[in-house]
Amino acid sequence: MRYYGGMKSIAVIFGGRSAEHDVSIITAHIPIIETLLATREYNVWPVYISKEGKWYCDQRMNELGFFKQPDWEAQLSEMKPVSLSFTAGFEIVWPGVFGKSQKIDIVFPSMHGTFGEDGSLMGLLRMANVPFVGCDIFASAVAMDKVLTKEVVAAEGMPVVPYVWFTQAQWKADADHFRTKIKQLKAPYFVKPVHLGSSIGIAKAKTDAELENAIEVALHYDDKVLVEEAVEPLLEITLPLMGNDDVRAAQCERPLNTSELFDFNDKYLSSGKSSGVNNAYSEIPAKISEELTRQIKDLGIRVYRTLGCSGIARVDFLVNDSTKEVFVNEVNTLPGSLYHHNWKASGVSNRDLVLELIRLAQERFASQKSRTYAFKSDILKKVGGPKVQ
Ligand SMILES: Nc1ncnc2c1ncn2[C@@H]1O[C@H](COP(=O)(O)OP(=O)(O)O)[C@@H](O)[C@H]1O
Ligand SMILES: [Mg+2]
Repeated sequence: MRYYGGMKSIAVIFGGRSAEHDVSIITAHIPIIETLLATREYNVWPVYISKEGKWYCDQRMNELGFFKQPDWEAQLSEMKPVSLSFTAGFEIVWPGVFGKSQKIDIVFPSMHGTFGEDGSLMGLLRMANVPFVGCDIFASAVAMDKVLTKEVVAAEGMPVVPYVWFTQAQWKADADHFRTKIKQLKAPYFVKPVHLGSSIGIAKAKTDAELENAIEVALHYDDKVLVEEAVEPLLEITLPLMGNDDVRAAQCERPLNTSELFDFNDKYLSSGKSSGVNNAYSEIPAKISEELTRQIKDLGIRVYRTLGCSGIARVDFLVNDSTKEVFVNEVNTLPGSLYHHNWKASGVSNRDLVLELIRLAQERFASQKSRTYAFKSDILKKVGGPKVQ
């Protein structure tokens, strides 16, 4: 093992068992790994989780180019998966008789969607007692569920679009009950699987037939489905935010879409660039009034705090373009490529962004550590039953 005098070891974890596996690879490299390597202040350990859930760590994966090779998956199959050890902090352990291992000082999760952005990885990292960048388990878990997000946001008196939700079992048991509830909403509707992102399984439905079909499709992707009123004419605004106790907003950004639905292709691919987000399709800052900008930023910060976000997140809004009524749509706890293009437009360089996120991770970790979790008690001594001889 090479000795890296004094430098901290950071593991960037990406890939994973999620529909957004490929986007996660891009986020990990642009801007995270690229920037970390350029600082020369960190030893960067790229940790790739395959679609099957196997963990790999190899310095060659610090290059995005590795994943662009036509045979990269074949190369991967030649590598041995690593294991993790929590006995002396968070350690990556390579298989083999010499027991090569690497202690990790800080983790930078770079996973979107299931298992990565939904709190699962954060739970693992908390158990391992290692500081990590971005939202903690609770905010991540709530944000991953579009219905829970709405319920938490609405409970604090913030505006969300009227909606109905049900699980697959509930729909099977009594679809008519939910059909009646849906009829109380104003058509057209948006039908969504609650746990997915990137517009997967989402459809707009105008007629009863379209509604039935959309629900069937959404239930194909998820066990829980959301039907909500469409906002028309729609003005979408997305707002990246950063911080722990002190929260700062980037610029209000307006995605400009070609299709009626902002789909995966629009979001990531159409411009052919690999920046992770299709810059050609967004307006920064959004050309909206100062008043609306202020209103959205204030609301964004409230949402961030209400969900208990930390590090970074992005809050998305649906605005009725004629009435300027604002609704909170959803929260992303790991914005694609950290939305670094927007932070840059807000005066935050990639270096400042990545280093600030690391500082925030350490700040949260220190504050959690200072809290008391264990209490002395003599309950065991007092409890009845036989004593060991
Ligand atoms: N209620 C709605 N009214 C109008 N458009 C909507 C509504 N809900 C979603 N959309 C459109 O569909 C897109 C995807 O929906 P969203 O809830 O953001 O899911 P995700 O981004 O997780 O796929 C939005 O960006 C927006 O363009
Ligand atoms: Mg969205």
